[in-house]
Amino acid sequence: MIATPANPESVFTYGAPQLKFGDGASDEIGFDLSRLSVRRVLVITDAGVAATGIPQRVADQMAQFGIEARVFDGVHVEPTDESLVAAIDEARSSGPWDAYVAVGGGSAIDTAKAVNLLTTNPGELMDYINVPVGKGQAPTEPLKPLVAVPTTTGTGSESTTICVMDVLSLKVKTGISHARLRPTLAVIDPLLTFSQPPGVTAASGMDILCHALESYTARWYTTYDRKKPEQRVPYCGSNPISDMWSEKALTLLAGSFRRAVRHGDDAHARADMAMAATFAGMGFGNAGVHIPHANAYPIAGRVKDFHPKDYPAGEAMVPHGMSVALTAPEAFRFTFDAAPERHVRAAQLLAPNAGQPTSPDQFLPMVLTDLMRDIDIPNGIAAVGFDEGDIPELVAGTMKQQRLLATCPREVTDDDIAGIFTRSMSLW
Ligand SMILES: NC(=O)c1ccc[n+]([C@@H]2O[C@H](COP(=O)([O-])OP(=O)(O)OC[C@H]3O[C@@H](n4cnc5c(N)ncnc54)[C@H](O)[C@@H]3O)[C@@H](O)[C@H]2O)c1
Repeated sequence: MIATPANPESVFTYGAPQLKFGDGASDEIGFDLSRLSVRRVLVITDAGVAATGIPQRVADQMAQFGIEARVFDGVHVEPTDESLVAAIDEARSSGPWDAYVAVGGGSAIDTAKAVNLLTTNPGELMDYINVPVGKGQAPTEPLKPLVAVPTTTGTGSESTTICVMDVLSLKVKTGISHARLRPTLAVIDPLLTFSQPPGVTAASGMDILCHALESYTARWYTTYDRKKPEQRVPYCGSNPISDMWSEKALTLLAGSFRRAVRHGDDAHARADMAMAATFAGMGFGNAGVHIPHANAYPIAGRVKDFHPKDYPAGEAMVPHGMSVALTAPEAFRFTFDAAPERHVRAAQLLAPNAGQPTSPDQFLPMVLTDLMRDIDIPNGIAAVGFDEGDIPELVAGTMKQQRLLATCPREVTDDDIAGIFTRSMSLW
């Protein structure tokens, strides 16, 4: 367990973007940008979202405010360093742009964050990627306004300071993390999320759920050594404010997750999921996430030949929310002893009518696997193509995610992670 520090932390931090939430909120983006004296806007999206017509509608609606908006639909679903560089090149050659509007899921929003950074600051993508993969440089120049308009109910990227990508040559998922990446305005319009197919609703919903559970069970902020002001990081551990967001997100998921997957036209369920994603984003964006997200990086980065339903055909991938979910039941069995009451409370919020098993450490894993089975998430990492021989490389990939493991409520060794992967081969 984590030892009590001699000089414990007494401060936690909280950051969030300006936020507009509700049916029709996306109709007001032109007005909002006109207040910032914006004239030329690049709308950034992927081809699947573009096919719904939503990004063009957002772009067209800006014309009445004298704003020229162009749609770029070249975002790669689950961005890579190469896809980000291509988007940056496109924005540099067609710019300058006064502002960016990201319309889509985490893939579009993260791409827009990278485009915004690299069209306002000198250097190249690798200069800003977290060490040890990149140089971890901080931006020196202010960024342009970025409006983030999520069309999935999942990542919370509209609220966070992070941009995630696969670095193809190294087969690792990593990112850029800096407060200036946080969008200027998050516009969450539940009406834009109805067209998500069931597979996307299920995977991205598991991302919400794990954001809420991981930030709720993250290492408590006072168990760290006291930091100097210049040492503060966005992820400060669980704290009273992030707890509030996480608990509320769990309650919303309990009522609406299965329904949103099975009945995509249920307005109440879609609105609850959009609210849950926003709440969980506010929680984890400040408290942090831990083992399931750290494991997700090598699971997604080392995919072999898995082709999920409802995602772009022809490309092997384990979608982000799915890759996070696959080891979550075993991760929470492992962290149970660090905060038993929190694990039990989370399970109760998520399944208020479930009977509690005799052994309380089984409760949260049981509630999670019941849900995953119901919404068609694969049964463990073997079901997405991994076998026992892959475990050493998966463990090595997880242990590189020290920024995330720093918020784990227990010390984690290579053997602990290997055990979690082994027990996650098949979950039920
Ligand atoms: N920056 C962060 O804080 C953060 C947090 C978590 C995840 N992420 C990243 O976000 C990415 C995953 O994002 P995601 O789960 O939101 O999905 P996504 O953006 O990858 O989209 C998934 C699929 O759903 C389609 N889609 C999206 N909205 C739709 C709609 N309304 N109607 C029809 N189709 C729709 C897309 O075309 C795509 O094929 C990953 O790269 C992940 O690493 C970032």
